[in-house]
Amino acid sequence: MAARITASVYTSHVPAIGAALDLGKSQEDYWKPVFAGYEYSKQWMKDNKPDVIFLVYNDHATAFSLEMIPTFAIGTAAEYQPADEGWGPRPVPQVIGHPELASHIAQSVIQQDFDLTIVNKMDVDHGLTVPLSLMCGELDPKTQAWPCPVIPFAVNVVQYPVPSGRRCFMLGQAIRKAVESYDDNLNVHIWGTGGMSHQLQGARAGLINREWDNAWLDQMINDPVGCANTPHIDYVREAGSEGIELVMWLIARGAMSDIVDGKAQGSAPVVKHRFYHVPASNTAVGHLILENA
Ligand code: DHB
Ligand code: FE
Repeated sequence: MAARITASVYTSHVPAIGAALDLGKSQEDYWKPVFAGYEYSKQWMKDNKPDVIFLVYNDHATAFSLEMIPTFAIGTAAEYQPADEGWGPRPVPQVIGHPELASHIAQSVIQQDFDLTIVNKMDVDHGLTVPLSLMCGELDPKTQAWPCPVIPFAVNVVQYPVPSGRRCFMLGQAIRKAVESYDDNLNVHIWGTGGMSHQLQGARAGLINREWDNAWLDQMINDPVGCANTPHIDYVREAGSEGIELVMWLIARGAMSDIVDGKAQGSAPVVKHRFYHVPASNTAVGHLILENA
């Protein structure tokens, strides 16, 4: 039996969430409501444990820099270390990769005309480890390991020019084809991370747009093709300069099984969980779990 994508997960990745966890502050008044939104998700992860997570995220000038800026980069390594982002690496386990599936996806997706950068060595920053911490919660005390292998897939949403939501959505469809042509019975989850509205610098620093975020979530769930056509400038104007991270969610949405020949025409995915909270640091936290019908 071939591999298949059974579910997609979407979540913001604020670094202060990682710090709150690592410093034992998750029960403080400020953080409690943020983590409460992930109680369901941690149980769902235990009940629906994937064999592999395909984790779409963005690097924040940690593994890459202005010297080298891949638009789409797939991690084909056997392991990745948590990055030092200025305060030492987070005290979380190393991330175990899946070189065989990752290489297969690279082969398939590149042959489907998407130019990916192959990464055999990199450290992973809060963009990847914070979503894992939120979704996995307390780790198995015996192994102290993340619950399954992870394929990191880094998207450049930091340095212009950034890819369009439409291209991200098309890429998700190619990733699904790639997974479904892998000859091993693996249950794969695809995660889209980053967002929602936030702007970290400039005159509009601190911008949050609840109304736009929630309308975007509605449309991403119910009219993904229309959502994928949202122009780049709308994200920046409405959701702030870092709101553009949301295009990564469209990679995961494009990989769901209702998308057939570029249109939403199969059975719509089931919304298992939806959460939205402001503020977490400077960011509106959004979170969704969709299962294929
Ligand atoms: C914050 C959010 C981010 O997405 C990020 O990469 C860094 C900081 C914040 O809200 O503080
Ligand atoms: Fe970010």
